[in-house]
Amino acid sequence: MAMVSAVSSDSGPSQPRLPGTPGKPAGKPVRSRVVLAMEGVTKSYPNGKVALRGVDLVVPEGDFVFLVGPSGAGKSTIIKLLIRDEMATKGVVLLDGRDLARLKRKEVPRIRRKIGIVFQDFKLLPHKSVRENVAFALEVTGAPRRSIGPVVDRVLRVVGLTGQADQLPGQLSGGEQQRTAIARALVHNPRLFIADEPTGNLDPLISWEIIQLLLRINELGVTVLMATHNAEVVTALRKRVVALEDGRVVRDQTEAAYHRED
Ligand SMILES: Nc1ncnc2c1ncn2[C@@H]1O[C@H](COP(=O)(O)OP(=O)(O)OP(=O)(O)O)[C@@H](O)[C@H]1O
Ligand SMILES: [Mg+2]
Repeated sequence: MAMVSAVSSDSGPSQPRLPGTPGKPAGKPVRSRVVLAMEGVTKSYPNGKVALRGVDLVVPEGDFVFLVGPSGAGKSTIIKLLIRDEMATKGVVLLDGRDLARLKRKEVPRIRRKIGIVFQDFKLLPHKSVRENVAFALEVTGAPRRSIGPVVDRVLRVVGLTGQADQLPGQLSGGEQQRTAIARALVHNPRLFIADEPTGNLDPLISWEIIQLLLRINELGVTVLMATHNAEVVTALRKRVVALEDGRVVRDQTEAAYHRED
């Protein structure tokens, strides 16, 4: 399968650097690595519902991709396949070059940590502080205790929550709760950051703050995939838009709007 072999593997060569290619600054890395690839992916749920039908999707490193489409189109199903919550019924799902259907059980946690994910409901632990919520994501993976504090401090700085580190989720605004979830999703330095309707519970102004943060994370080199119904944000930002309808990719455009414009 040509596409599959073009996808870099974990141990693959580092990115090529071209000296002074016209139009590209010398030494700038070429974004040739593929972070995620789906080929001919179909997903049928056990109740017979077909949620995805022959989905092809390739996302190179550094992309910012909006996944749009009506409710029930299959956006969250794509995300569930990527985090291996569900397995494809047919086709191939590759994350960082690894076929998710062929992972050995013991490899799953390491591959899974390549993805940071946030949801519409922030899924924070209510009795733990901001700092403890973020630290917990490291503790459960057996990270050495002394390494945890500096990582937590770093990600709290990235999301601008240093001052609220000791507050409980219930003492935070919705935007601050989502920023806590984003900090937690960053602790393992993910290659892919997935947001499933991250602004669904937030008012427009706070939604923009969250989007700005995702853009910043993308600028730091993390590939971002965001499923959303937020037409205003998608159309304003002119990023890549992948549109699903009834389990099929019906549009995949760069610098696109929420709705088809042609
Ligand atoms: N566990 C499941 N079992 C059976 N059907 C499911 C399951 N999860 C999702 N579906 C169905 O698969 C289809 C796609 O659902 P999915 O959650 O991927 O849509 P979505 O695009 O994320 O929608 P929304 O915008 O409402 O979040 C829907 O028809 C849904 O009812
Ligand atoms: Mg969904």
